[in-house]
Amino acid sequence: MRITPDLEQDFYDAAYSQFLNLPESDLVCNRQTLEADLANPAQPIYERRRLYLAIMQALLAEPVAGRAVLDYGCGTGDWGLMLAAEGANVTFLDLSPVAIQVTERRAAASGVRDRVRGIARDASDLSCFRDEEFDLIYGSAAVHHTLKYPGALEELVRVLRPGGRLVLAETYGNNHLLNMARRLGWKLRGQAEEQGEEIVFSDAHVRMLRERMTKVDLMPMNLLAMSKRLFRGRFESAAVRGVVGALEKLDSVVLRAAPPLGRYCGEVVVVGRK
Ligand SMILES: C[S@@+](CC[C@H](N)C(=O)[O-])C[C@H]1O[C@@H](n2cnc3c(N)ncnc32)[C@H](O)[C@@H]1O
Repeated sequence: MRITPDLEQDFYDAAYSQFLNLPESDLVCNRQTLEADLANPAQPIYERRRLYLAIMQALLAEPVAGRAVLDYGCGTGDWGLMLAAEGANVTFLDLSPVAIQVTERRAAASGVRDRVRGIARDASDLSCFRDEEFDLIYGSAAVHHTLKYPGALEELVRVLRPGGRLVLAETYGNNHLLNMARRLGWKLRGQAEEQGEEIVFSDAHVRMLRERMTKVDLMPMNLLAMSKRLFRGRFESAAVRGVVGALEKLDSVVLRAAPPLGRYCGEVVVVGRK
């Protein structure tokens, strides 16, 4: 099946509509709620806590108050909401109008509605934004969806100001074994093709970014610890956390001894400077 923006939009509209029925108290999002979720093994986000703790550090490494931020492919907008709660002026962009409705409701529940705006639009055409409009662009599991559309990367770079930062959280796709396991997992779970996950962020995309940015730093993580995927939904078990923790420690040793193995890790934080 050839994935089109319409198919992806329908998929994500349906996926996010459940959030429209949540009570206001469940919609609040800021740094404290995110830190609490990342530390809670019962929360789905716990599985990617290392990636997102590194992202939080990268996003807050420079002052954000008063800065113009684009949460690119925002979904339900956790990270843009966190940045708005820290004082940033945040634009949420997503193909899915339901995602934008959800983020706007969450912004109101979080007390930051006056610092955010939502735009439902295909990221390959950002003509609604001026050149160099944003100080910081953040994309979590989003860029690998948009890079398949011609013009998307050029648009992303165009709307970032010179000296501005691009911060990405992505699954890393250089490891063929891991990619095979991912594809098998998608098949076994009956994952819809319209979810648009058929392209995984890899070194080829890093090269594309490097051609357009002044500097691109990578922080790969989870090599052996990607086996955490086998324990999905079971992190409340101390034994499971012990195994995953031990693999994470082993990864640190292996990656310190052999940094080139980093490209075979399963997740990556990308920090680019235009
Ligand atoms: C895997 S979700 C990630 C959502 C969110 N950033 C997160 O980390 O939870 C990918 C998101 O990209 C959005 N998306 C896919 N293709 C897009 C496009 N061409 N333009 C804008 N958004 C797109 C989808 O609607 C979806 O919300």
